[in-house]
Amino acid sequence: MSEASKSLYLRGTFLDFTGPAADAGDVEKNFRCLDDGLMRLEGGLVRELVPYPEAVGRGFKPGEVDFMDWSGKFVVPGFIDAHVHYPQTEMIASYGEQLLDWLSMYTFPTERKYADKNRARAVSDFFLRELLKNGTTTAVVFCAVFPQSADAFFEAAEALNMRTVAGKVMMDRNAPDYLLDTPESAYEDSLRLIDKWHGRGRALYAVTPRFAPTSTDAQLRMAGKLLEDRPGVYMQTHLAENKNEVRWVAELFPRHRNYLHVYESFGLTGPRCLFAHCVHLDEDEWARMAESRSVACFSPTSNLFLGSGMFDYKRARDEGVRVALATDVGGGTSLSQLASLGEAYKICQLSGHKLSAVEQLYLATMGGASSLSLDGVLGNFEPGKEADLAVLDPGGTDLMAMRSAQAGSVREKLFVLTTLGDDRAVAGAYAAGRLVHVRGENPPNRPRLG
Ligand code: GUN
Ligand code: ZN
Repeated sequence: MSEASKSLYLRGTFLDFTGPAADAGDVEKNFRCLDDGLMRLEGGLVRELVPYPEAVGRGFKPGEVDFMDWSGKFVVPGFIDAHVHYPQTEMIASYGEQLLDWLSMYTFPTERKYADKNRARAVSDFFLRELLKNGTTTAVVFCAVFPQSADAFFEAAEALNMRTVAGKVMMDRNAPDYLLDTPESAYEDSLRLIDKWHGRGRALYAVTPRFAPTSTDAQLRMAGKLLEDRPGVYMQTHLAENKNEVRWVAELFPRHRNYLHVYESFGLTGPRCLFAHCVHLDEDEWARMAESRSVACFSPTSNLFLGSGMFDYKRARDEGVRVALATDVGGGTSLSQLASLGEAYKICQLSGHKLSAVEQLYLATMGGASSLSLDGVLGNFEPGKEADLAVLDPGGTDLMAMRSAQAGSVREKLFVLTTLGDDRAVAGAYAAGRLVHVRGENPPNRPRLG
């Protein structure tokens, strides 16, 4: 019998949501906690989740099956990172600049190295293992401009059977020559990658114009044509992250109403279109984000680190804009979605909004799945869902253990996790039903890159 077709049983406290939520009230209503549960996985899917005592009553004997006892820990759906740049893993924590200078000084010279497919593969492997260590099982990823950097990434994700959405960056102006493609080459390379990878195993493709300033009209038109020619692919880009960037877009596109209108006029808005940041939107952009069902990616550690500004989460909820949570590494400072949630909470505090622990968990799991229109296949524990799981340890560090011991409720413990947690709070992770990470049992993850 192959590994995937054998049943695997997990015991623990299971936390998830019954489905997507329209508002904060719905998030609370949909929250589910099974204090002592037994989950059966088979063929890469969740098959069954029942109270442990009930299973024992039916004759379940842990000694007779493949069994992992995670008692005292929270089993949650694997975290979803809706926006991250894998080639920037090696330049995380680059000092001193805001967006546009940070791109020229650090980002572009680093991404140049991804013409080398061996480096691209080594860093993809490293990056994906780091995600798993952090309990992130699905990510939406920018590769570099070189198509081989995307092939390398998809090959690495396939080897781990991880669900990913990714794409080759398109940029044909306002960047160093060594990083430029053309409208035609971007179209052809993207089309080849889509036809090779979109829907192969767990891979999905996102057409990836970097942001409006680095694409000509002709290239943005090609991006729109890719979405038309290959329905079902995603689109990912950046929007209104930094005030100087917004001014620059107004200069480059004087005939457009605003930044979002540039994308919209090329057919680059809609339910599968993901916009990183959305920090400096005007009234019309908020309204058009909501009406087009486009997704805003809230990237708290990046928005703080690059001094970009504060995403107005409450406004997004009030306007009915779909929101997903993202690390945006290397602008972001951690691959941990627990760390993102800790910073998200603080940003909301600054505008007088309380982000509850339950809503935090929703954002990193079912909320992300729903924003990616993947809630039919993952994001909670319904039988038949893909078995991507994270196991959170409220005693991941001495301080957390001490604080959690004082916490009366699951919600309080969860809040301790999102405030103090990072990879040390992730005891294990499963991708498509396979145990792919156990804290403390990892071989060192230190590629030699030169
Ligand atoms: N805007 C255009 N490119 C980038 C990038 O690589 N990172 C961030 N944070 N913003 C961008
Ligand atoms: Zn980004």
